[in-house]
Amino acid sequence: MRKKDLLTLLEYSPEELRGILNLAAKHKKERGTVEKKTLAGKTGVLIFQKPSLRTRVSFETAIHELGGHVIYLPDESVGMDTRESVEDIARNLERIVHLVVARTYAHGTVTRLAGACGIPVINALTDWCHPCQALAFGLTMLEARPGKRLNAVFVGDGNNVCNSIMALCAKLGYSFTAACPKGYEPDASLTEKCKKICEETGGETNVTNDLHAAVEQADVIYTDVWASMGQEAEAEKRRAAFRGYQVDEALIARAPKDVLVSHCLPAKRGEEITGGVLDSANSVAYEEAENRLHVQKAVITYLFGG
Ligand code: CP
Ligand code: NVA
Repeated sequence: MRKKDLLTLLEYSPEELRGILNLAAKHKKERGTVEKKTLAGKTGVLIFQKPSLRTRVSFETAIHELGGHVIYLPDESVGMDTRESVEDIARNLERIVHLVVARTYAHGTVTRLAGACGIPVINALTDWCHPCQALAFGLTMLEARPGKRLNAVFVGDGNNVCNSIMALCAKLGYSFTAACPKGYEPDASLTEKCKKICEETGGETNVTNDLHAAVEQADVIYTDVWASMGQEAEAEKRRAAFRGYQVDEALIARAPKDVLVSHCLPAKRGEEITGGVLDSANSVAYEEAENRLHVQKAVITYLFGG
């Protein structure tokens, strides 16, 4: 049987995704007690081209708590496509370890790693998507609004996190709206794909520039930084483009009173979100950060046949 990877979420059926989220809830409940040691005697490697707090710490903790050993490899010490090719790295790793978790710039780097090795590869963020973050969002929503057909609104940059949340919402039959300034909408071909998925799942995928109308019926408002890792040189230009798209108290006042607010973190307080909103009772951003651990354990368990 061919090994499985977690690369985008699009390769997973709604049933599989619901199964992973239910498994994550079980891991959360059983943490430190009867949790199955799926990775006993196994080793996972984390290859990261970009900085990380949550992703690194939650994957290292997940692998450790599942009984495995972890090796963290910053790309400076590996040199993907500089010291040796991505394919050669994959062909070496598959002979020594059992799992690769990769955070890269180009999305193609993760797919090349996955294509060239016979062990599971998990996407820990690329310029194009962040599937593990979307799964953590999914678990957080199941906990906060169980059984609800969610109306999720992403405000700001149609970036990697936006792409993955859009994909998850389509798969789960939620309504999703990206409210972005012109020129910063989510990936157009992915948006079309999500609309097609929604025909099957009963969800909805919308893209608008009108954030005020978008949040009026929102169950959850999500945002992320205006300049992602690798876009630092564009920060100034982007600050100007995103003016008016801040998730602040005035925007929250336009939404239903009990609207949830989330952010993948790290946040630039005072830019895409105010500190007041991030720290408010509506915010579930820190729950979602914790849920990274539980969903990643579930993904690993799933990929290893559990
Ligand atoms: N949300 C997230 O992926 O955080 P890190 O970049 O700190 O891993
Ligand atoms: N969009 C952000 C997410 C960080 C978790 C970035 O790529 O930098």
